[in-house]
Amino acid sequence: MSTAREPKLVIAIDGPSGAGKSSTSHLVAERLGCAYLDTGSMYRALAVWCSDRGIDAADAQAVIDAARDLPMTVSPSSTDFAIALDGADVTARLHLPEVSGMVSGYAGIRDARNALNEKMREIIAQAGRIVAEGRDITTVVAPDADLRILLQADAARRIARREAELNGAADTTTVTEQVVGRDAKDAASSQFETPAPGVVLIDSTELTLEEVVEKVIDLVPEQLRWPEEH
Ligand code: DC
Repeated sequence: MSTAREPKLVIAIDGPSGAGKSSTSHLVAERLGCAYLDTGSMYRALAVWCSDRGIDAADAQAVIDAARDLPMTVSPSSTDFAIALDGADVTARLHLPEVSGMVSGYAGIRDARNALNEKMREIIAQAGRIVAEGRDITTVVAPDADLRILLQADAARRIARREAELNGAADTTTVTEQVVGRDAKDAASSQFETPAPGVVLIDSTELTLEEVVEKVIDLVPEQLRWPEEH
């Protein structure tokens, strides 16, 4: 939550899987005293809610109704980001492989996206200072953010990073499908491959996480960098 002394600051970061959106967003948020919003997790929560109730992604109207009425509470913390559905914390389930495998189907339904986009805008407005990440955050959800970044990296590097994250839990073919295959599906419903006008492209292929974080912070107008500089 921002106080009267803290200037408002909205940073929006999008880009494909494995480009480093989450790690970068977390660190930037911590260093700049910002909340953090992982919009992908909101789509994952919608998928969990629907599948728990037998609502298939093929039943678009049922998914739209669920998205509009979703009893979802998001805690937009940079250290303890959490999502509850009807009061039950589902955070630990959101990145299970079964959820990763089905989420694109739910996220591809336009009016379900519109419903979640509204919730995202409310969270951003309430937070005051926030780093929000997700596929169409720079273009659709927060086109008026103070700083908008598209984080890119070569596909080979993105696959290698995701493999390292999974620490041998999945083979290269599975990881390639997760990274490149899911992006291909997601590309039908959101545009995150090329930067829109005013969006800064950062290619992280040859950069360390720390270098990317520094580049992002350097792009934030100085008077908005509180508390790092105070
Ligand atoms: O970033 P992620 O893997 O947690 O995203 C989960 C899914 O939600 C993925 O299929 C992309 C989709 N998504 C989206 O369409 N728009 C967003 N703003 C965020 C995620």
